[in-house]
Amino acid sequence: MSWSSRCASAAKATTQSIASPFKQLAPAVTAPHKTPVVAPAEPHTSHSLGKKRILGSMSISSGIGVATQVRYAHTDSIAVPDFSFYRRSSVKSPVAKNKDSAEARKLRNYVVTGGLTVGAAYGAKGLVHTLIGSMSASADVLALAKVEVDLSAITEGKSVVVKWRGKPLFIRHRTGAEIAAEEAVDPASLRHAESDQERVKDPKWLVLIGICTHLGCVPIANKGAYNGYYCPCHGSHYDVSGRIRKGPAPLNLEIPPYEFASNELMVVG
Ligand code: FES
Repeated sequence: MSWSSRCASAAKATTQSIASPFKQLAPAVTAPHKTPVVAPAEPHTSHSLGKKRILGSMSISSGIGVATQVRYAHTDSIAVPDFSFYRRSSVKSPVAKNKDSAEARKLRNYVVTGGLTVGAAYGAKGLVHTLIGSMSASADVLALAKVEVDLSAITEGKSVVVKWRGKPLFIRHRTGAEIAAEEAVDPASLRHAESDQERVKDPKWLVLIGICTHLGCVPIANKGAYNGYYCPCHGSHYDVSGRIRKGPAPLNLEIPPYEFASNELMVVG
């Protein structure tokens, strides 16, 4: 026996007597011409399973960046919530086309958006109105801006003083003789040329701000050379129309804005 024959016998004996850690999947088949043919391995990995394509709808993926997994859970056994209640009826059908219901769905969105925009604008307007209103005069200040005078309490020939915006207000019920005398005065002869008609709305009623146009004193009614108003500070004389007739005052007494709310009620301011 040659050396090679003895070695072959020893190797064959070792292979058969020592258990191999690897299980042989299929017996080797020896071809007649003695070339060993290895039978195809049973598929055990996702890669080999995927290549075999024997799993029907089962999903198999493999690769460097993909986790290798064979999933045996079927979606038939997982309860999926039904969201049909929340879906628009126009798109519930699986064969419904999106463009067929697009206009109707856009209209709904436009209406909702428009409504919210109008609501937001109204809220912003209220907020701005409140902020600006907080900067305006308070109710008590506004109440002082106008004053109502009961004319029925002022008899003919009488003059009263009313406080208006912190200033004295002269209101005089003139007599017929006083009206005639003031209307007869030539305005051209006056320092501050104004006719009586320019200074009154109703000849019977004279309304003046009781502050001397010289340096701001308060004149006295029914006094002076013209029986109108007299400022004792520096001796200015005003007539029954409030026009300066004598003394240092340069201008006639000022006339405030006023109107007659009725025959017996005057509103000044
Ligand atoms: S303040 Fe009236 S006359 Fe001077």
